[in-house]
Amino acid sequence: MRAGVRQLIAGNWKMNHGGTSGLELAEKCVAIARRAPAVDIVIAPPFTVLAAVAHECSAELGEPGPGANAVAIAGQNLHPGDSGAFTGEISGQMLRDAGCTWVIVGHSERRQLFGETDAQVAEKTRAALKAELAPIVCVGETLAERESGKTHEVVKRQVDAVLPALLSHGKTAVAIAYEPVWAIGTGKNAGPDEAEEIHAAIRDWLAVKSPELAAQIRILYGGSVKPSNAAELLAAPNVDGALIGGASLDAASFGEIARISAELASPRTTRPS
Ligand code: 13P
Repeated sequence: MRAGVRQLIAGNWKMNHGGTSGLELAEKCVAIARRAPAVDIVIAPPFTVLAAVAHECSAELGEPGPGANAVAIAGQNLHPGDSGAFTGEISGQMLRDAGCTWVIVGHSERRQLFGETDAQVAEKTRAALKAELAPIVCVGETLAERESGKTHEVVKRQVDAVLPALLSHGKTAVAIAYEPVWAIGTGKNAGPDEAEEIHAAIRDWLAVKSPELAAQIRILYGGSVKPSNAAELLAAPNVDGALIGGASLDAASFGEIARISAELASPRTTRPS
């Protein structure tokens, strides 16, 4: 948590809630956002419900008034091209047309299961920004890399690959999610000190090239974030939010994490709902 920086609480639904259950969950996320006006809430549903969820969220929100807080919608992936013969792929502009303002790029599941390289992640980050989509670029080491002392080297390589693209972000928001692969879906999270060490290192690397980017970018932690560990992780000085998988599929857990973040932002004014 950094003074004056709104935390970003993002839910990555992965390959879940692609039908009516997604609409129901989105409706609950609007209520969650309403109760946490000090926090930015982003949800990343699967492609099949993006447009419907975006419609649902803007209809639910109604007229923006005092305390109104929108739920922003993210794609989980994009193709770097604008259009063409790429069966099964989705472009940045298509995500925009569906109502997205954010997109997750380079998730470790895409890197590991679908062979995405650093170069492709950089290309996608550039394409996202071209479409005025705010990228959440995921980085993180595997267990083997951590155990062989390569965490900093691996994460720096991944950050360096997207740095030229991030430097051209203009007015579009940007975020990096540090998601140690060994912590994703395993129930084992990095401790706040472990997360802070890498988050601070990422910010330092960025600051060498651009102090402005280092100050502006939000660095999220991801990997088994849940209500029981959110407070200590979100309180770490260089943690600007969380990218949440499993716990974002349940409105009660996601809502509790958003509440914890809001409480850190304004400890005296935010009460449990
Ligand atoms: P879990 O929260 O289920 O560990 O997933 C983290 C993640 O991959 C978010 O992108």
